[in-house]
Amino acid sequence: MNYTDHKLDVVVLGAGGAGLRAALGCSEQGLKTACVSKVYPTRSHTVAAQGGIGAALGNMGEDSWQWHMYDTVKGSDWLGDQDSIEYLCSNAVDSIVELEHYGMPFSRTEDGKIYQRPFGGHMTNNGKGDPAKRACAAADRTGHALLHTLYQQSLKNNVDFFNEYFAVDLLKDESNTICGLLAINIEDGSLHRFIAKMTILATGGYGRIFQSSTSAHICTGDGAGIALRAGLPLSDMEFIQFHPTGIYGVGVLISEAARGEGGVLKNNEGTRFMLEYAPNAKDLAARDVISRFISKEISAGRGCGPNKDYINLHLEHLDADMLSKRLPGISESVKAFCGRDISKEPIPVVPTVHYCMGGIPTNFKAEVLKPTNSDSEEICEGLMAIGEAACASVHGANRLGTNALAELIVFGRGAAIQAGQVINPTESNKMPSNESTQEIIDRLHSIKNNSGDISVGELREKMQKTVQKRFGVYRESETLKLGNDELLSMSKDLKHINVNDKSDVFNTDLVEALELHNLMQVAGSVGTSAEQRTESRGAHAREDFPERDDENWLKHTLYWGNSEDHRISHRPVRMTTLSNQISVIQPQVRVY
Ligand code: FUM
Repeated sequence: MNYTDHKLDVVVLGAGGAGLRAALGCSEQGLKTACVSKVYPTRSHTVAAQGGIGAALGNMGEDSWQWHMYDTVKGSDWLGDQDSIEYLCSNAVDSIVELEHYGMPFSRTEDGKIYQRPFGGHMTNNGKGDPAKRACAAADRTGHALLHTLYQQSLKNNVDFFNEYFAVDLLKDESNTICGLLAINIEDGSLHRFIAKMTILATGGYGRIFQSSTSAHICTGDGAGIALRAGLPLSDMEFIQFHPTGIYGVGVLISEAARGEGGVLKNNEGTRFMLEYAPNAKDLAARDVISRFISKEISAGRGCGPNKDYINLHLEHLDADMLSKRLPGISESVKAFCGRDISKEPIPVVPTVHYCMGGIPTNFKAEVLKPTNSDSEEICEGLMAIGEAACASVHGANRLGTNALAELIVFGRGAAIQAGQVINPTESNKMPSNESTQEIIDRLHSIKNNSGDISVGELREKMQKTVQKRFGVYRESETLKLGNDELLSMSKDLKHINVNDKSDVFNTDLVEALELHNLMQVAGSVGTSAEQRTESRGAHAREDFPERDDENWLKHTLYWGNSEDHRISHRPVRMTTLSNQISVIQPQVRVY
């Protein structure tokens, strides 16, 4: 076996906001840290985030982290773990101040404070007051500013970067404990074992199981695929977020910041339909709610355009100077993709896949859970997961806008703190067994040497079309079952994919085949989890089970196995808090 070994305290897989924040935090503590990424770090999907980071700074109106927590629990449709949500909201403020000190170029108020705008589902006074100005923004390019800040700080603090390395699988020692990962250097095909006392998965989401998504093409669920193959479960995979405002026909994101700054949605009769559906929050209700009502308006024949199949987002009534100062990015996107000037014409929008609430289950310390029974909170030694790859579960059944970036920095930072507490830098590394190494290499070779009759691109497109058609905003039993049957048959086709390129140098054909294996496993977990949840909650809207059913379904789904051989188990939602500064927020009817 030919490979290079790198002995480390920590290996972080993924260089988006969560991965960089964790790597930076580990390195700052003196831990020998490597960050492995399949793309150059500043090309990670965090760069695309637009509207802001949720944190109750109270710079532009009264706010508190307890109100933020109330909104997040309500936004999650009570499926979020309340200890994790408390950790998120109570640590968000300090995490933002830290970013400011790291040099992040936030937009500013007249008196020099971090600028904050309203965002969907964020209210004051436990949902009873006005919208909260809570989204800490760098114009509408917040993710760009965040990612570059964290990358620069990581370089300054000696994180060792392995860019354009694709992780194949986790390494295990003789006693089956995780002790790092094996990756292929895309540039020359060489193999590398990153042997570490802690492996942190920060691989992002899996929006690319869908045909149309605001997620970058790199969002292929690599961490989720790796976790499943390591015998770990995925949690709450049925909950896929549709952002209400993707540009019609192209799926490019139009930030909720547009509505935060005063934009409104209208149907073909010129009616602001959200006034009726959400009289208090209006166009700033939570995303799942708005996406469902847009779909309803379109189904009722009130969509805009010649085919009545989109809704108009209006910004023309807003001050043109404000638009160019606060929303320069979306002004450009709309010009590029629709040829329109947002200060003069409305933007055609439809709900578009945007975020994956499910992922690798963790506790609030970012440690991966491997529950042996429904009440167990047992952890998987040597492994953490953070960011969209993880399910902490702070978003439950529906994430509020701005809470993804908040999650990246809070749990990235938290993972580093926890790693610092459990790692002993003077102890020697556990070494991967030959068997574990050989198994990964054999799998890699068998995929590379496959010479079937279907191309990776063809099978991927077939899978994406099925997922798009069968697992949309509204779901019902028959369609879900059909989707799952189709996916099962496609997963068998994985054995027949043809990797044309057999070379070692920049073999993107092989990388795409490895990604497709991950995508297919994840797609199966999404469909199976959706079919078994016979209620509507958050982003999971079942036409055949339209009500939330707390009696039977106030619990997390765990999916184990693979497309051909899987099982489902459940674990309770954690209805406990970490401190006495807030009480558990009991389930209520969710109205905006
Ligand atoms: O609308 C947006 O800017 C997206 C933000 C988010 O998903 O948090």
